[in-house]
Amino acid sequence: MSRSGLSTVNTNSFERMLQDEQATARLATTLAGMVRRGDVLLLSGPLGAGKTAFARALIRARLADPGLVVASPSFTLVQTYCEPQGSEIWHADLYRLNGEEDVEDLGLEEAIDEGALMLVEWPERAAALFEGIDRLEIRLAPVACDDNRRLVHLAGIGGDWPARLNALACHEMTGISDPAPHHKKGRTEP
Ligand SMILES: Nc1ncnc2c1ncn2[C@@H]1O[C@H](COP(=O)(O)OP(=O)(O)O)[C@@H](O)[C@H]1O
Ligand SMILES: [Mg+2]
Repeated sequence: MSRSGLSTVNTNSFERMLQDEQATARLATTLAGMVRRGDVLLLSGPLGAGKTAFARALIRARLADPGLVVASPSFTLVQTYCEPQGSEIWHADLYRLNGEEDVEDLGLEEAIDEGALMLVEWPERAAALFEGIDRLEIRLAPVACDDNRRLVHLAGIGGDWPARLNALACHEMTGISDPAPHHKKGRTEP
């Protein structure tokens, strides 16, 4: 797990309006092309904000399976998926977590260390676990008097998240820039 020292933490963020669920899915799909093993994506927002919808679209895009059943892990707490390359995606929902011991039992830290891509709903329930690690925070907020619109705020904290988020923001604005700059740096994407 990659932890940033406080002095080296850098952050970047942007906000945009998602007009409907398809727009949410499009953003998640773009992001799916930028994430890699061991990344931690934290999804916040009230019940019904669209956290699961976002995670579902991202997982479907990663697995290139638009019809894949991605159930909410609200009762199982964790649902795992195998990527074609053999690595795992963990989709967690910590809403029903009971305490620090439960978090440890889930083995989230170990999974991140082993290279799982981690999508976590209700990360606030295990705030201490995610505090110092490189992460992308995705906050979804409903919009008053509109069932379909959501305001999304993304904040990339630590590692190369600010650079990646910049690329994502450019892609969102122009639709033409490369949303996956890390590939240019010759990193391997297992
Ligand atoms: N722009 C949008 N983005 C995401 N979901 C939306 C949007 N507009 C409407 N919805 C609906 O809101 C609900 C979100 O549910 P869900 O993803 O389970 O929320 P959460 O996991 O945050 O509790 C779904 O019924 C979805 O169809
Ligand atoms: Mg949910």
